[in-house]
Amino acid sequence: MKVLAINSSPRMGKGNTALILTPFLEGMEAAGAEVEFFYTKKLKINPCQGCFNCWLKTPGECVQKDDMKMLLDKLREAGILVLATPLYVDGMSGPMKNVLDRLIPWVQPFIEMRDGHCRHPGREGHSRRKLVLLSNCAFWEMDNFDPLLVHTEAFCRNAGMEFAGALLRPHGEALRPMMKTGAPLDDVFEAAREAGRQLVQEGQMSAETLDTVSRELLPLEPYLRGANAHFQRVLDALKK
Ligand SMILES: Cc1cc2nc3c(=O)[nH]c(=O)nc-3n(C[C@H](O)[C@H](O)[C@H](O)COP(=O)(O)O)c2cc1C
Repeated sequence: MKVLAINSSPRMGKGNTALILTPFLEGMEAAGAEVEFFYTKKLKINPCQGCFNCWLKTPGECVQKDDMKMLLDKLREAGILVLATPLYVDGMSGPMKNVLDRLIPWVQPFIEMRDGHCRHPGREGHSRRKLVLLSNCAFWEMDNFDPLLVHTEAFCRNAGMEFAGALLRPHGEALRPMMKTGAPLDDVFEAAREAGRQLVQEGQMSAETLDTVSRELLPLEPYLRGANAHFQRVLDALKK
């Protein structure tokens, strides 16, 4: 089982997305998957130019010569695609959206009805690749991920991929400060690892495991107090 994992956090390994993604990928590898991992920040993936040359003049081939060709080759071989993104303005971050936009050479310009809906036929057929979404955000509530979930599930339907579920970490900004104080978080990281194992060995992740990844880390009020006090301290220090 080949896995292609992409993390679009500009903070890369120092970010909060990585805190959940790392054990998730470790769990997949421990279960026997072959994981290939990329940070969008280290790749050159230009935005789609909207020229439609990949549909008409050079079918299946983008005119832009950048790292997207390599990523498409990796994706062709992968049975599971992991999209890891911080929540930016209620959705995926820009570099991740660029990756999805640049998948357009994989479909043909024609429009067909599939499952009662307009779709483009795939150029290479649909392999029912699985897609996992992994995200974290600063706001406290789980429903901050709703727009991203709706978008990702729509993308899966359009791309002929199977949405295999999401590892979502609200108030993800609390993770690192809580780790510093030694607050108990092992169950969260262990659940991310277990989700990776389940996906590879059982083909799906249990709702209970995903709920543990997303569990409340601390109540809303202390989270707001802590975050606001932190920002005030930083602002005050910068004034001096
Ligand atoms: C440009 C930008 C937009 C953001 N938009 C949201 C948002 O809409 N909702 C939210 O809860 N957090 C938002 N955040 C906060 C990030 O999701 C949060 O800091 C996250 O932990 C970053 O993950 P990372 O450390 O892996 O990059 C935003 C951050 C940035 C820089």
